[in-house]
Amino acid sequence: MRRLLPLPGADDVDLDEAYWLSDVGHQQVRGVMVASADGAAQAHGRAGGLSGPADKALFAVLRGQADVLLAGATTVRVEGYAGEQPTADRRDWRRARGLSEAPPIAVVTRTCDLDPAAGLFTETVARPIVITHRQAPQHRVAALAEVADMITAGEQEVDLSAALDALAERGLRRVSCEGGPRLLSQVAAADRLDELSLTVSPLLVGGSALRILDGALLEPPTRLRLADVLEDESFLFLRYLRAGADGEREVQDEVNGS
Ligand SMILES: NC(=O)c1ccc[n+]([C@@H]2O[C@H](COP(=O)([O-])OP(=O)(O)OC[C@H]3O[C@@H](n4cnc5c(N)ncnc54)[C@H](OP(=O)(O)O)[C@@H]3O)[C@@H](O)[C@H]2O)c1
Repeated sequence: MRRLLPLPGADDVDLDEAYWLSDVGHQQVRGVMVASADGAAQAHGRAGGLSGPADKALFAVLRGQADVLLAGATTVRVEGYAGEQPTADRRDWRRARGLSEAPPIAVVTRTCDLDPAAGLFTETVARPIVITHRQAPQHRVAALAEVADMITAGEQEVDLSAALDALAERGLRRVSCEGGPRLLSQVAAADRLDELSLTVSPLLVGGSALRILDGALLEPPTRLRLADVLEDESFLFLRYLRAGADGEREVQDEVNGS
């Protein structure tokens, strides 16, 4: 993978170095998504068809750096999630940086329609987390409580701000939100998305696939600042940070043509 921006550099970028989130004293949420060149977040109903070897390598690195992996229940079902099982080297790497052995997967669900015998719960190093709301079906909640830690956040659906706060209270500060689009749009709407790692895949898929955010209009739109651009085999790897006061000035300068 080679760096195009901020300064073109070596051909073999150290992804761990490029993407490491220093501890800033509070929780940081990073969205991790892939889209086709025409903006689709799905190909044949899945994200996998948009990915490639370098994207998979980056995905693994970002998982390897996280305290927790946050995902919507549809993504977990469609993509057939199992628990994260880091290699021995990655476990050593994590230990050396004060991270847990493996990040748990935290699934957001309204229905709690998840099979307690699925790989998510059985093939895992860290005990998964299920995030649901107070009115979730109690028989399913009871079954999932046998195999996962339960978080209740919200009355009739999960309140994403409350859910992220509950993760932070458990010391889970580096949150990798792996989608899907319906979940990510709520994280952004709650103004909790600090960073977006977006892979642009060199494909046109057409059709009416979801985009990487699917939900309420963000008003005003969230401004981003482009921090890093990497390339491999025509895939682009864009690292955006939510723009602060400085970033907003940069965007405004661009709009003004200066
Ligand atoms: N391009 C990419 O990088 C990428 C990444 C991930 C996924 N995908 C693709 O995106 C599609 C799935 O994404 P999606 O947006 O349809 O679904 P999603 O965000 O993965 O999951 C939606 C589900 O999450 C639960 N949920 C979300 N918000 C909730 C809330 N506030 N309270 C309670 N539960 C909540 C509900 O689960 P219950 O149904 O259990 O109630 C809801 O049906 C798949 O095709 C997948 O392959 C693409």
